[in-house]
Amino acid sequence: MALYAIGDLHLSLTADKSMEVFGEAWKNYINRIAESLSVLTADDTLVLDGDTSWGIDMAEAEADFRFLDQFPAKKLLVKGNHDYWWSTVNKMSGFFAEKGLTSFEFLHNNCHFYGEYALCGTRGWFLEENQKAPDAKVLNREVMRLETSLRAAGNRPIFCFLHYPPLYQGYQCPEILALLEKYCVKACFYGHLHGPVIRRRFEEERDGTAFFLISADHLRFVPKKICE
Ligand SMILES: [Fe+2]
Ligand SMILES: [Fe+2]
Repeated sequence: MALYAIGDLHLSLTADKSMEVFGEAWKNYINRIAESLSVLTADDTLVLDGDTSWGIDMAEAEADFRFLDQFPAKKLLVKGNHDYWWSTVNKMSGFFAEKGLTSFEFLHNNCHFYGEYALCGTRGWFLEENQKAPDAKVLNREVMRLETSLRAAGNRPIFCFLHYPPLYQGYQCPEILALLEKYCVKACFYGHLHGPVIRRRFEEERDGTAFFLISADHLRFVPKKICE
């Protein structure tokens, strides 16, 4: 029994958006993912930290979910900025039930428990390069979602999963960092950074929280084992 996490699988079994165009780092990535996930057992939990499928809706993402569902572990889905298939938890759960895809749950406005730990998370917030001023509405919504999730942890030690990095070289989101500190988050895992930007990742401890980048290309498509 172990807890694993990886972000940014960017599966594209139906959508025509293979990541192989991004060069050597992504070469043969679907097979590499299949190989690394083949060690999972039914007792394991795998957090998928956003950008899971390029499908524009559940129908287009179905093959990607079916691919993931063949590996026996509970999978917790966090929303990424490219998860265009993401709708409401009700609708998505209904789709999974209808299609017999039984291994998925959502980490969204809630928290899950793993042993003594609480697993919290949300997409997070990011100042996209083309954006001039912070979009206060989106930021506030994400801050509220994160706090709802962190509050649900009660007194348990918290692992937090965000798709967007709350900080890296040249960037930080003070509102989200303040929440991680307030709720004494033990470790924060984030994705979204690919290719050359990976160099700017922050993977140290700050105000009591350890930070880790878990984007798939950074992890070479092998999920990070967080604890047993
Ligand atoms: Fe991504
Ligand atoms: Fe992303």
